[in-house]
Amino acid sequence: MIYGQEERAHDAHANGRDVLFAPVAAGLKGTVRVPGDKSISHRAVMLGGVSEGRVEVTGFLRSADTLATVDAMRALGVRVDEEGEGQLTVHGVGLEGLREPTDVIDVRNAGTLIRLLPGLVAGSRFLCVLTGDASIRSRPMARIVEPLSRMGASVWGRDGDRLPPLVVRGGGLSGIHHQMEVASAQVKSCLLLAGLSAEGETQVVEPGPTRDHTERMIRFGGGRVEKEGRVDGPGTVTVRPLERLRLPGIDVPGDFSSAAFLIVAALLASESDLLLERVGLNPTRTGLLSVLERMGADVSIERCDESGAEPIGDLRARSSRLLATDVSAEEVPLMIDELPIWALAAAAAEGTSRVRGARELRVKESDRLATTAALLRSLGVVVSAYEDGMDIVGVGGTRSDAEPPWVGDTRVLAGGDHRIAMVGAVAGYVSGKGVLVDDTDCITVSFPGFADTIARVGQR
Ligand code: S3P
Repeated sequence: MIYGQEERAHDAHANGRDVLFAPVAAGLKGTVRVPGDKSISHRAVMLGGVSEGRVEVTGFLRSADTLATVDAMRALGVRVDEEGEGQLTVHGVGLEGLREPTDVIDVRNAGTLIRLLPGLVAGSRFLCVLTGDASIRSRPMARIVEPLSRMGASVWGRDGDRLPPLVVRGGGLSGIHHQMEVASAQVKSCLLLAGLSAEGETQVVEPGPTRDHTERMIRFGGGRVEKEGRVDGPGTVTVRPLERLRLPGIDVPGDFSSAAFLIVAALLASESDLLLERVGLNPTRTGLLSVLERMGADVSIERCDESGAEPIGDLRARSSRLLATDVSAEEVPLMIDELPIWALAAAAAEGTSRVRGARELRVKESDRLATTAALLRSLGVVVSAYEDGMDIVGVGGTRSDAEPPWVGDTRVLAGGDHRIAMVGAVAGYVSGKGVLVDDTDCITVSFPGFADTIARVGQR
């Protein structure tokens, strides 16, 4: 199928077959709203479910991952009503009100769900079994099994407690001091959720800064969580047990990680001037902005605001000639999900860019160091891969002519990973002839309507 020419945008997702993403020769122009933030949407349903009474959620991301969380909370006895476009009512049952699920919970592809839910149920004396798709069943879980067990929960997993399926029988928790080996918001959040019903304080030490949506939402609901250290630096996060969580309504901001694909597409396509409205600008998420600015990108924040517990703003991105840069290990956690699309920006820049300290990418929805390097190589870009990063030899700035920046075979494999599929799609939008991406269905994991959005603002 050729997408972006005569076919209707939604046809691009009719099935898992290859889709050719055709160039947007005259750039991306106009104003867009990206879908709601995935991380915050998961947390709104999970924390809303243990809050007191009704929690109205607006701007909710209705994607494959977050709907898995809705189903999981329903299985735990929480009523969740879908009220329309991005609107949910979560009927919270209180911190002690969850019920034993009568069946195994299938998280599908949602890593955030399988890492956070064990923490949420760890204080309840019932059995909860969690599994997911093939990608989920290969993702490391010892990082939550070990500290939750130390807190007093009984937690088991396949392969010596390292992999899902996971079995959790909770109850009788005590707070612990936990030093995380890798900077992970999912691990930190799991322990903070468990800490809400533990005896005494729970402390989690982050070797690097990770997204703090859980902390903000707990505070928003009246809980006590503090971080010692800078918001965007390493530090210790402490949570105290809570009797009642009382969340007011939650308005979920636009997902910066989804916006990142549109920002890079706008920078790399010539003649672009794109405004992205109401994007979440939490400083633990926006590392990509500083890196792109260093590369010479014309990206600006226009109008900052607050949406509940989170900072938001409008972002403007215009076509830019980019220069290579190095991404340091300290910057990696602040742009962990944006590294694949950053790699495409680096591939189009002048000079050689490097990233190191990014070993965590190997245990995401795919081995993202491998899948990103393979994608760039399919485009004809020279990439040297390392255990914890890569060097990318850029093909050199935005072209004002119709020349494709990519010189190789333009068929790329997404490997079932939503973010890799969107990197392939953006490569197509900013190419001369288009790029064929295999199996684009996975895009619905985080950005349903991705192709429709580009169809609206992409000038052909
Ligand atoms: C997430 C945290 C990150 C990120 C993932 C979502 C979250 O994972 O990669 O997409 O919602 O907490 P880690 O914290 O494991 O790095």
